[in-house]
Amino acid sequence: MLVSAKEMLQKAKAGHYAVGQFNINNLEWTKAILAVAEELKSPVILGVSEGAGKYMTGFRTVADMVKAMIGEMKITVPVALHLDHGTYEGCLKCVEAGFSSIMFDGSHYPIEENVEKTKELVQICSEHGMSLEAEVGSIGGEEDGVIGAGECADPNECKMIADLGIDMLAAGIGNIHGKYPANWQGLSFETLDAIQQLTGDMPLVLHGGTGIPEDMIKKAISLGVAKINVNTECQLSFAAATRKYIEAGKDLEGKGFDPRKLLLPGTEAIKETVREKMQLFGSVGKA
Ligand code: 13P
Repeated sequence: MLVSAKEMLQKAKAGHYAVGQFNINNLEWTKAILAVAEELKSPVILGVSEGAGKYMTGFRTVADMVKAMIGEMKITVPVALHLDHGTYEGCLKCVEAGFSSIMFDGSHYPIEENVEKTKELVQICSEHGMSLEAEVGSIGGEEDGVIGAGECADPNECKMIADLGIDMLAAGIGNIHGKYPANWQGLSFETLDAIQQLTGDMPLVLHGGTGIPEDMIKKAISLGVAKINVNTECQLSFAAATRKYIEAGKDLEGKGFDPRKLLLPGTEAIKETVREKMQLFGSVGKA
């Protein structure tokens, strides 16, 4: 069964650790992430971008697949299925499809419009027992064709959005999706601290989890980050392991071209990445 992310994130914030959101693209990734969460007794959030949803033929396919897998794999740890960077329309589709959590990314709207739309979604989510993430201050870099400049959120605007009844808040603090450029200035802990002071118990979300140095991750958790999103790092480890398999000619040996064999090294590599992240975020054994 899927659960809302509300309770797992409240526990994480109170216990000073973070729950990982790992984005899924297909059956293999989903299976790998669920297997590691169960192995490490960690709560987990499966993130689905609108692009990944389309790729998998629609949000209903994704929701039905994940629910069936939780049953077939006898997963006992809490699992939330979460729309990542949703449009308003995308959010409504995921409510219909049976997701347990959504992110409304209204960061590109003027703050008044972000507030209005977020308010409507707070109401809808509470009717469906779902959790809602809102965003203030765009996250930099490119994700699924969405390019954000990367900015530090205004703590007062964060407070305004947090007070609407959302369950988690993503605030830009200089974080970027994808690889960080060599001249990256690092996370703005001053901004994070100011946001946490104003928003109190609200679990904060750190996007762009790939490539942030470990000490910065730990500091962010100590300042109220309770959910960390990771996508690119799984893609990189999957691609590297698949490339190695093919370059070694393994796909030409025996039945190495069988998709179940061909995708195995990449899937194992994702598992290792997820294990490392869950250890670093401190969510192991917290299910
Ligand atoms: P990365 O791709 O940088 O890991 O970011 C993931 C993310 O923030 C998803 O919303």
